[in-house]
Amino acid sequence: MIKYKNKVFEKYIDNKDISLKIKSIAEKLNEDFENKEVLFVGILSGSIRFMMNLLENIKFSYEYDFLKVSSYKDMNRGELSLELNVNKKYVNNKDVIIIEDIIDSGKTLDFITKHLKLMNPNSLNVVSLLIKNDMKSKCNYYGFEIDNKFVIGYGLDINNLFRDLNHIYIKKDEER
Ligand code: IMP
Ligand code: MG
Repeated sequence: MIKYKNKVFEKYIDNKDISLKIKSIAEKLNEDFENKEVLFVGILSGSIRFMMNLLENIKFSYEYDFLKVSSYKDMNRGELSLELNVNKKYVNNKDVIIIEDIIDSGKTLDFITKHLKLMNPNSLNVVSLLIKNDMKSKCNYYGFEIDNKFVIGYGLDINNLFRDLNHIYIKKDEER
């Protein structure tokens, strides 16, 4: 159990299950993107651990780059802004696969896909470790569909904290 500012988070997805799920996502990608010119675009900072594990299981050759968008402060959503851009010349004509940690409202992903489409990719796919709010139609590959509550761990944070937790934890409803 994890405590933060009178909020309690309980263990939700074990690291072993995360790894198994990532292996199965990688197997699908290995089938679907063999012989393609793939550029993975990791969305910083949340997707890093997912990305490292995923790429370890990819068998075709690929390139990668990063994009950073900021939106959250504490546990609330704010304005979206681009903090770090990919190199446009790497995106041109590539089969781009966006790697996200979680899709919640889908706004971040809409912002990112719109941005990348302007850079002339050959194709654009999305893989997300977690999905909330029935956002399945927003991505091509995902790990777990989860309850609509805040989660931390395995890259997911509150104010940059808790990314280091090996398991994923979910916020407990407040008792009153
Ligand atoms: P969206 O724009 O609402 O889809 O939010 C997507 C982004 O918000 C993700 O890339 C995460 O960085 C962050 N986010 C959304 N939900 C959570 C959560 O439960 N825990 C930690 N970060 C989250
Ligand atoms: Mg994120």
